[in-house]
Parts: sequence; C-alpha cells; structure tokens
Amino acid sequence: MSHQTVVVLDFGGQYNQLIARRVRECAVYCEVLPYKTPLAEIAAKNPIGIIFTGGPNSVYLPDAPHVDPAIFSLGIPVLGICYGIQTMAYALGGHVTSPDSREYGKTDTYYDTGCILFKDLPERGISWMSHTDYIDKLPEGFTATAHTDACPTAAMQNPEKKLYGLQFHPEVLHTENGIAMLRNFLLEVCGAKGDWTMGDYARQTIVSLRDKIGDGKVLLALSGGVDSSVCAALLSQAIGNQLTCIFVDHGLMRKNEGDEVETAFSGRNINFVRVNAEERFLAKLAGVSEPESKRKIIGEEFIRVFEEEAKKIGKVDFLAQGTIYPDVIESGAGDAAVIKSHHNVGGLPDYVDFKEIIEPLRLLFKDETRALGRELGLPDYLVNRQPFPGPGLAIRVIGEITKEKLDILRDADFIFREEIAKAGLDRDIHQYFAVLTSMRSVGVMGDGRTYDYTLALRGVTTTDFMTADWARIPYETLDIISRRIVNEVRNINRIVYDITSKPPATIEWE
Ligand code: XMP
Repeated sequence: MSHQTVVVLDFGGQYNQLIARRVRECAVYCEVLPYKTPLAEIAAKNPIGIIFTGGPNSVYLPDAPHVDPAIFSLGIPVLGICYGIQTMAYALGGHVTSPDSREYGKTDTYYDTGCILFKDLPERGISWMSHTDYIDKLPEGFTATAHTDACPTAAMQNPEKKLYGLQFHPEVLHTENGIAMLRNFLLEVCGAKGDWTMGDYARQTIVSLRDKIGDGKVLLALSGGVDSSVCAALLSQAIGNQLTCIFVDHGLMRKNEGDEVETAFSGRNINFVRVNAEERFLAKLAGVSEPESKRKIIGEEFIRVFEEEAKKIGKVDFLAQGTIYPDVIESGAGDAAVIKSHHNVGGLPDYVDFKEIIEPLRLLFKDETRALGRELGLPDYLVNRQPFPGPGLAIRVIGEITKEKLDILRDADFIFREEIAKAGLDRDIHQYFAVLTSMRSVGVMGDGRTYDYTLALRGVTTTDFMTADWARIPYETLDIISRRIVNEVRNINRIVYDITSKPPATIEWE
C-alpha cells in the first residue's frame, strides 16, 4: 500500500491532531511523530512534506524542543506553524524576539498573495494568533509574506528551499481560509495528489491490526454507541472470530436499541455476547435518586458484569477500546473540575486479565469515526447515532428509577426522535432527547382529572458538547410532538421544552 505521506512533527502544541485531521481533510495521508524522531526515521518514510506544530512559548527556554537542522536540507518541503515557524527561523540563523505584549485570538492579517500558500486568497483576513515571541530577523534567503499590526513576520518563505512558516494557526477554523492555505502547501508545494480516502485508512488500519494482534484474542466492551461500534466493525474485519464483543444491556437503553445492536453485530464472524442485565441494574438502582450515586452504581455494576463475562472467556491478549481523540484530550485535561463523572472514559482495565490495550480510533475525530464506520458497512442508524451517555436513561429519569418510568420515557423519547427526523432536523440538532421529570401536575383529559408526570424535551446545537445552545425547534414541530406524546404515552399530561444553554445548564439534566 503506497501512498504519499506527510509527517507532522509534534512539538507539544494543543492543536497537533487537529493539524493531522486537516491534512486528512485534504485527502492526504499523514502521521504525527514526536519532534525527537531521528532524521533517518523521518526520511525513511519518504514524506512529501513535513509540518512542524506549535509548542511551548519560546525557543530560548532551556529545554525548548528543537530539531536537527539537517532536516531543512533534505529537499523535503517544510511548513512551520506557530512555534514551528520560530524554531525554523531560529535553527536557520534568524532571530526571535520576546516582546512584553502577546498577540492572542482573532487578528487582522495582511497577506502577500504572491506567496504560493496564499494563492487565490484575499489579501486581508482574520487569522488565529496565540503567541508572545515573534521573528524580528528573518533567516537568510527568507522573505516575510504576511504581517499584522503587531507582528512583522506573520508568515515567511524560502520558495527555493521549499521552506514556509505561519505564525498563526491555519488549522483552527477561526483563521479565514486557513484550510485553503494548508491545501496550497500540500498540493502546490508538496505535490500531493489528494487521492487518499477513508477506505485507505480502513485497509491500512486492518493490516496493522492484523500485524499487531497476530493470532491473539481480543475483548471489546460494545456499548452500541458510534465509537465502540466502529471499533468492533474494524476489528471484526481485521481478525474475525478472534474478537469477542461483550454487549452489556443494562436495561437503560432507548427503545429498540439493544435489539438494533444485536442485529448489527450478531451476523458477523465474531463472538458476540449480549448480557441482559436489566434486572441486576434496576435492583442496584432501586431507591437511589442522587445523580452521582446512580452514575457510580452503574459504572461499578457494568464493570462487574463485564468482568464475569470476560472470565468465562479466560485469558485474552488485548482489550480493545473505542477511545477517540476528543476522549483522549478530555480525560487528559488535568486540572479541569469534574462536573459529572463520565464512566465510559478510561474504563475497565484493572479487572480483566489481558496484556495490552488497543485503541484503533485514538487519532480520529468524531466525524472521521463516522466516515470510517460507513466505509466498514455499518448501518446509518448506528453510524449517525447521537451521543448517548454511558449511564443511559438512568440520568434522564429524574430521581428514583423504576422500570415503569423507564418505559414511559422510552416511548416518549422515541416519538420525539421520530418527529425530529420527520421534520428533517436530525442533522441540525446535535443532541435531542426527552427527560422524565419527577414532577406531577394536574391536567384534564376527556372529562376526567389527571395527575401525571411532566416530560421535558431537550435539544441542543453544539460543536464540542462542552458548550451548547438550545435548539430553535419550530413551534409547529413542537406542537406535533407534544400532542403525539400526550395522546400516545400513558402517564404524561404536560410537556415543557428546555430553553437553557450550557453553561449555565448542562446538556443532560442529571
Ligand atoms: P453534560 O450533561 O455534561 O453532557 O453537558 C455533555 C455530553 O456528555 C454526555 N454525557 C455523558 N456521557 N457518560 C457518558 O458517556 C456520562 O456519564 C455522561 N454524562 C453526560 C452528554 O450526553 C452530552 O453529550
């Protein structure tokens, strides 16, 4: 499998995988390697281009990361971004200065459109800056090709040597035309064909999984969510029945969901185990109403069930997890306060006898994971599934959980989702669900008085689920949903729509 490769050299900046993702968006294969990677190893990959990521504040810090300057003489095009441009300038004899003020955020930037990176782009635009130091003396052979009011070297080039640098972050969407700039580097400077596809990614990952796993046994906890489903599909194509998927159905899934997961996976050449553990979970949850306690009970019980099943299989060599890149960032974010404990991040390992963890989706973003799932032939309803919390409907039935309440919620939630899809809103609203509140109120139906539950509907738009806005669902759609639910679902006589954003609210109610 030969394809053009771009190497992204990681200097420790926060957007490294985002750069890799943008390169893939330009249909070019790329690998992220540590900046310390020996030059011979980089050259052996025969890259058509190298990108330096951002990194620490200053090239003058005692332990600032630098590359072997010989990298600039390989004849391979290099693009330095943020810290990357500075380390390039420093290595080639330029000078980097540390002013008192820093430039941060959206910044008016002026481009020399004669530079191939800015070819066919406007002469002025917003770029996303995040730096203190800047280059005040260019290395020999370089010219500045963009500036801002505060920074004389917002970009530089030495076209003869195919060396380029950007002080700002083209990979961040706030930079207008940033992706076009990266594309210009890849296609115009590096000569990329832009013919790499997710199908290539799938094939290549399957081959490397086979290499790694050999004839070993792999165990995967399958939740039926997008990530674990794609992980299962990938592994099933790679190693077939060396894979065992354990699907713990905790009875807290949405309507029909457990059966859908079973249908999608039981036909494959893998060992698929569905554990119907509803009774166990509901028994443990009986009488518990505090949200964090519910989460903890579910998390612990999940591990216990999984462990019991895993023991039946005996020793496994690898435990697979569908961790995707945003999970890696979130669980690594050291000092962030725990708002809610997300039990499916960083899960199970302590309890199961295995040698190593494999996480084949670790470098992919959510939409890439979905694209891979499609490539592997997963049905749309699995691939497009909206996020669903590990504790399931337990945190959408407010307060104490009973099977009866769960069934009411399942029916109402199903109608809500069905009508949102019918109205063609399912792509625009990123997460939407019903919540069964613990409140009852008086209503009138026919000639009789009712005293039933209030159901809350929640719909949000968001890019990262860290912040969210409430979705403006048209009144007509809300009207249809409200009428259908009250008419078709017993024990609900009042429906409210949640119009709070996050913050101050969270997306889930518990
Ligand atoms: P919140 O409610 O914190 O939700 O604004 C943000 C996103 O995370 C999902 N969520 C969870 N996912 N285990 C999970 O796997 C959990 O305990 C959990 N709690 C919230 C929520 O659905 C939303 O997408």
